[in-house]
Amino acid sequence: MVSPDRRTFDFVIAANRLPVDRHVDNDGGVEWRTSPGGLVTAMESVMHGREAAWVGWAGFPGEAPEPFDDDQLRLHPVPLSAEELRDYYEGFSNDTLWPLYHDVIVPPTFHRSWWNCYRKVNERFAEAVCEVAAEGATVWIHDYQLQLVPALVRDRRPDLRIGWFNHIPFPPVELFSQLPWRREILRGLLGADFLGFQRPDDARNFMRACRARLGTTTVGDRVVWRGADDDRLGASPRTVRAAAVPISIDADGLRELARRPEVVEMAKEMRASFGNPKVVLLGVDRLDYTKGIRHRLQAIGELFEDGEISPPDVTFVQVATPSRERVDAYRTLREQIEATVGRINGDFSHLGDIAVHYLHQTYDRQDMAALFQVADVMLVTPLRDGMNLVAKEYVTARHDGGGALVLSEFTGAAEELRHAYLCNPHDIAGLKETILRAVRDSPQEKTRRMRALRRRVQRNDVQRWADDFLAALAAAPGRPSREEATE
Ligand code: ADP
Ligand code: G6P
Repeated sequence: MVSPDRRTFDFVIAANRLPVDRHVDNDGGVEWRTSPGGLVTAMESVMHGREAAWVGWAGFPGEAPEPFDDDQLRLHPVPLSAEELRDYYEGFSNDTLWPLYHDVIVPPTFHRSWWNCYRKVNERFAEAVCEVAAEGATVWIHDYQLQLVPALVRDRRPDLRIGWFNHIPFPPVELFSQLPWRREILRGLLGADFLGFQRPDDARNFMRACRARLGTTTVGDRVVWRGADDDRLGASPRTVRAAAVPISIDADGLRELARRPEVVEMAKEMRASFGNPKVVLLGVDRLDYTKGIRHRLQAIGELFEDGEISPPDVTFVQVATPSRERVDAYRTLREQIEATVGRINGDFSHLGDIAVHYLHQTYDRQDMAALFQVADVMLVTPLRDGMNLVAKEYVTARHDGGGALVLSEFTGAAEELRHAYLCNPHDIAGLKETILRAVRDSPQEKTRRMRALRRRVQRNDVQRWADDFLAALAAAPGRPSREEATE
C-alpha cells in the first residue's frame, strides 16, 4: 500500500502560502487560520471538494509540518528558515518584485543575496511539486513569488502540463527592465504551457518583455521560445500562450452568506455601533501602499475640512489587515496612516461622534459580509492593483440593491466594473468630487449601477475563472506549429 504521505496527485497547486497559516498563541496553543489575501480567498473556494495537492509555506519559520489532509486537499508544507523569510519573502518577493510590478510606487530594492535566495527557494518549491505530481499531472503555479518554478519543474518533469497565473500586474517593459535578473525571470516563466494574467495589458507587457529582453518571436498571444545558449531548456522550440483570465469571487457563496438573517442582524448592530449615521463610507484593504489608503484619507480629511461631510451624519470606517509588517515601506505606511487618522479625528470628531473609525484587524467572512452591507459608499482607491476582489465582494454582498462603489481606474476590476463611480486616486480634487457624487446621486441611479455591477460579477465568478484557466491550459499547444517554428 502507498503510504498517505507518498501519494501523488493528478492536480497540483503551488503558491507561496498554503490556504491556512499556523498561529501559536501565548500559551503555546496552535491554531490554523485562513491565510490573508485575494489569492487564497479565490483558490480556497475553487479547490473546495477537489482532490489535489497544495504545495506552499505554512506561515511560520523553521521546520515544516508533515503533509496533512484538509478534506480532499493534501497540504504539502514547504519549509522556510528565518533567513529565507527575510531574503526570499520579505526581500526579493515583497521589496523587489512587489514594488517593481506595482508601477514603482515605492522604489524597489535590488540585492544579489535576495535573488540567490529566491532562486534557492524556487528550486525547493519545484522539487516539492515534482514529488507530489503524478505522471502527466496538471500543475497550477501561482504568483510572483514562484516565477522560476515553471521552468524548474519542466526541466525535471517534461511529462507535466504546467500553468502559471499572475495575481498582480505585469509591469511595462520599461519598468521590468530595471530588474537585473529580468532574463532569468522570463525564462523561468517560459517553462509553462500557459501563462494567465489579470488584464490583456499585463499579457501584452509580458510578451513585449520577451521580445525586448530575450529576442523571442511572438505570434498573436503566443511566444515561440527556442531557448537561449545558456538555457537549460535546450534548443527544442516550444510555444507558450499568454492571455488574460481575470480572477473573481465565489459570488453564490457570498450572496448566500450575506442574506442569512444573522448576518443582516449583525449589519444592523454594526451600524448602530457607528452611531447610526446617515452615510457610512468604508475602506477594506490589506495595509499596503498599493491600495491608495493615504490618498483616500487625504480626500476624506479635506471633505471634513470643507464641511461637505461631517459626523455624526457621515462617518468613514477603514478596516486594514496587518500585512508584511517587517518590511520598511509597510512600517512607514502604517505610521503615516495612523498619524493621519489621529489628526482627522482630533480635528473633526466630537464626543461620541467619530469622524474615522480605524480598525487594524482581520475579520472572518461573516463579519465582512455584514460590514459590506453597512457601507453606503465603498471606497476602493488603489494606485495599482492586479484585480481587487474587495470591489467584487462589495457589490455581491449588497443583495438588497443598495450601496455605491467608488473604484480606481488602476485596478484590474475597473476593466469589468464599468458601472462603478470610476476615479483617479492621484487626482484628489477629482476623487473628492467622485465620493460626493456617489453619496448624493439619486437612489435610482445608484440602484441602476449596482444592478449592472452585480450581474457582471455573478456571470464572471471564480468558478468560471478557474474553468477558463484550466481549459486554456489543457488546450495550450506546447509545440509550435510549422509556421511558428519557421517564423
Ligand atoms: P489583496 O489580494 O491584494 O490583499 P484583494 O482585494 O484582491 O487584495 O483581496 C483581499 C481579500 O482579503 C478579500 O477577500 C478581502 O475580503 C479580504 N480582506 C481584506 N481585508 C480584510 C480584513 N481586515 N479582514 C478579513 N479579510 C480581509
Ligand atoms: C496578494 C498576493 C498574494 C499574497 C497576498 C497576501 O494577494 O497576490 O500572493 O499571498 O497578497 O500577502 P502575503 O505577503 O501576506 O502572502
